[in-house]
Formats: sequence, C-alpha cells, structure tokens
Amino acid sequence: MEKNESKAMSIVSRRGIFYQSFGIYKEIGGFYDYGPVGVRIRRNIENAWRRLFVDMLQAIEIESSSIMPEAVFEASGHLSTFTDPMTKCKVCNTPYRADKLLESFYEKKHDYKSMEEVKKLSLEELDRKIREHGIKCEKCGGELGKVEKFNLMFQLKIGPTGSETGYLRPETAQGIFVDFRDLFKTQGLKMPALIAQVGKSYRNEISPRQQLVRMREFTQMELELFFDPEEEEKDIGFIELEKVLDTKISFIKSGEEEAIKASLKELLESKSIPNKYFALLLYLENRLMQEIGFDEKAYRFRELEKEELPHYSKGNVDLEVNTEYGFIEVAGNAYRTDYDLSSHARVSGVEITVVNNGRKFVPHVVEASMGLDRLLFSIIENSVVSGDREWDWLRLKESIAPYKYAVFPLQKDDKLLKKARELAKMLVEKGVSAYYSDSGSIGKRYAKADEIGVPYCITIDYQTLEDDTVTIRNRDDSKQIRKGIAELLSSS
Ligand code: GAP
Repeated sequence: MEKNESKAMSIVSRRGIFYQSFGIYKEIGGFYDYGPVGVRIRRNIENAWRRLFVDMLQAIEIESSSIMPEAVFEASGHLSTFTDPMTKCKVCNTPYRADKLLESFYEKKHDYKSMEEVKKLSLEELDRKIREHGIKCEKCGGELGKVEKFNLMFQLKIGPTGSETGYLRPETAQGIFVDFRDLFKTQGLKMPALIAQVGKSYRNEISPRQQLVRMREFTQMELELFFDPEEEEKDIGFIELEKVLDTKISFIKSGEEEAIKASLKELLESKSIPNKYFALLLYLENRLMQEIGFDEKAYRFRELEKEELPHYSKGNVDLEVNTEYGFIEVAGNAYRTDYDLSSHARVSGVEITVVNNGRKFVPHVVEASMGLDRLLFSIIENSVVSGDREWDWLRLKESIAPYKYAVFPLQKDDKLLKKARELAKMLVEKGVSAYYSDSGSIGKRYAKADEIGVPYCITIDYQTLEDDTVTIRNRDDSKQIRKGIAELLSSS
C-alpha cells in the first residue's frame, strides 16, 4: 500500500468535498464552498479542536461580529501594517505577491537557500531582486511594476449614508480583544482568563492559490489566553502544566534548517518558547494533530525568524504540515504581550485593566490561531491510500470521518431495504452518524464509502432476517465480521 498525495484532489473533485464558489459565474479566486462530505469532516475537526481548546481548558467561547468599525483596526495596527508586497504587470495589470513570485523563481532554480531568505527582504530589496533576475509577468511576459504595499482588508461602508467605514475582520482575535473588558466582568473571569472563538475571517489576498491554502474567506479557530506576567503559571482547566512539559515535539529553532525532537521543557529552557502557557498551546496543537489523524512525521513546529516577528511579539511559533505544496502553516502561535488590549484602551479611551493579587495591570496574552480549511486540506492530502484496491480511498480517523457507518441492503429486495433503513434510522437516533444507500452494486457502494473515508459498511442480507446479525466491513483491511444488531447498537 502506498500513500499518494496527488490522488487527493481527484477524490475531492469527484466527490465535491470542496469546490470553487460561484461556479456558474466568472471564476473569482480564493472562495470555496464545501459539499456535504466536506461539511461533515470540517465540523468534526472543529469539534475536536473545541474539545481540547475550549472544554479541556474550561475556556469560554464567543461569537463576535465579522464586520468591525475602522477604529478597531486602527488600534490593532491592521490599517497600517496588514499588508503584503505587490507588483502588477505593466501590460495586462495582473497582480502578483512579490515575495511569492520571487520564491517560486528560486524554487524552480532549486536555490532553496535564497528561497528561504525571501521572507527577510524589504520592499526595496524585493523590487531590486525581481528586476535583477528579469522576472516578468507569468501571463503575458510583460514588465512588472514597482513593488508596493497592499492592505489585505476588505473595506466596506456601513449604513445607507455610507458615512461609517468598516472592514471585514481579517482575524477572529480582534473580537475577543474588543469584548475582553465586558466578558471579564460579566463572566466572572480571573487570571488566567481564556476566551475562544471560531469564525470566518476575510483577507483580500493578492494571488489566492493552492486551493484552501490561500483563500479570501476562511475559518479560524482562535484561543486567547490572558495572564498576569508577574505571576507563576498555573494549571488550567483539566490540564496539568508540569505533565504537558514532558511532551516531545518536532521543532525547528530559528536560524536552523532541520527539525529536532525536543521536549517542551527543553524548549523552554533554551528560550525557544517564551513561557509555560505558550508550551501549553503547542501541547494542545500536537495533541489535536494526533487526534485528527496526522502521522507525527507529517508536521513540525517552527520558531519564526526575528525578521518575521511583529514588533510587539515576544515569541512566535508556527505549526506546519507537509503537503503537495511543501510545508504549509496551519497554525500560528504568538506571545502578543499587552499590545492588543493596551492599543484598544488607547484608541477607545476606555480603561482595560484587571486586578490580580492586589495589582492593577493590562493582562498579557498568548494566542493559538488555527486555520480550519488548511487543516481539512492537509488531512485529506495526508490520508489518501492508493494501490491496494481498484479505487483510491481516504484513511480518515473515525473521529473526523464524515460518517461512522454506511448501511446497505445486499440486494434490492423490499424486506432487505426495509431492514437496512430501520437499522440506519436506529443508529442515527442513537446519535451515531450513518447513511443508507441502495443505489448501484454492493461493490460500488463499498468503493464510494471507502473513497470518503467511512470506517465501516454494514450489510443486511438474508441471514439478517433470520437471526438479526449483519456483516460489518472494515474500511482499512476490507475484512468482514458478523455481529448481532443488538451488540452493534450497544457498542456504537
Ligand atoms: N490572529 C492571528 C492570526 O490570524 P495568522 O498566522 O495570520 O494569525 C492564523 O493566521 C491561521 O489562519 C494560519 O495559520 C492559517 O491556518 C489560517 N489562514 C491565514 N490566512 C489564510 C488564508 N488566506 N487562507 C486560509 N487560511 C488562512
């Protein structure tokens, strides 16, 4: 059996797991819709995240507005700094992200060292390199214009007079910061205080590409952990910090190229991560990756280089997964200090402080920000199995598979159909995900179930009518066992 990433997208399009939005109209890059299978896998990943980042930590979860007034982004810094370097073709006007253009130039030349250096280049240096290497428009070969900053936020006018400027939020985190003061009071929070949010974020990406990797509308799952920087870190929710620190993760230190296996304790001691709360975030992400089915060799954590850090950051570590596009970032972790709350207090004129141990101060925050779409994309890519049967299939973990069971009648006989439908209904009523199908041959039904990663297919045959037993086919080895319906229901 061999894994084959390149087959993943053919399953995705055949089964409509996700697809480009507005299909009947002119294509606009960066927007994707999820079909029925995609919706279910996505929801399962989201719930796996929620179990760890909300329930295990006993965090609170909110839903804030997606449209926010300009003042919010003046405070957050997005108005002035949320930009990417852009160059446009002087002939056909096609826009390019200058850094990505240069990276792909070096990649084609197998000059990986220069490729790595691109993220450190200033606007002027990017401009100079593009000219030095004679890089031209990929569409028409035209000359490229000066590299300039482009703000990625979608601007809009609020209300009929249009007097109020607003923006679609580029991250869900700002809603948490803006609401922090009120939540702290109304929810009776104490230090450390944990607030989570899952929701859509919007970025007007210059060149959206690589499907769910660079989208203009996507979903983030974010946790903000507010704490007192002068207080020793404490256990949180149901997690004991000292136990967390023994966890070993694959980690690339800044300035290094190779990942090492190191415990969180070692990373703390070497100052690669700033504090124990930050370690906790990496622990949870590592756990989530395993719970949703990633092999530990498929992902790594990477300490960001100094040039990549925002000025207020006291530590940033990305989580990256290996895909057909190379390693892509699926989560960003950051120690944002008191930057966000202090900035919102300054711009709004409202005091945002807490009192802890008799001291009044602005809390510090560490943040874990995960991209749901990128996680879905990379788990599908990492789950394709090819070569052991006539069809390619997804070895998805039961916890994220779109359905646990598919229920089939062996033949189109009314008695079998009725019995199969009854069993599927009983499973659904029990809260177990199952679907019923009687279309096509039984072989085709198995293939279709395998393809979307359904772990078990139950078949109702004539013996079922006699002794209430069914066959259960295991997706991974295609082996079948016979089991009583009563036992199946009680163990599901
Ligand atoms: N609040 C911090 C923040 O937003 P980020 O690194 O810009 O940090 C966090 O984004 C995560 O959101 C990324 O690791 C990625 O998974 C996801 N993400 C960001 N931009 C995206 C895009 N254009 N398309 C899909 N996912 C994206």
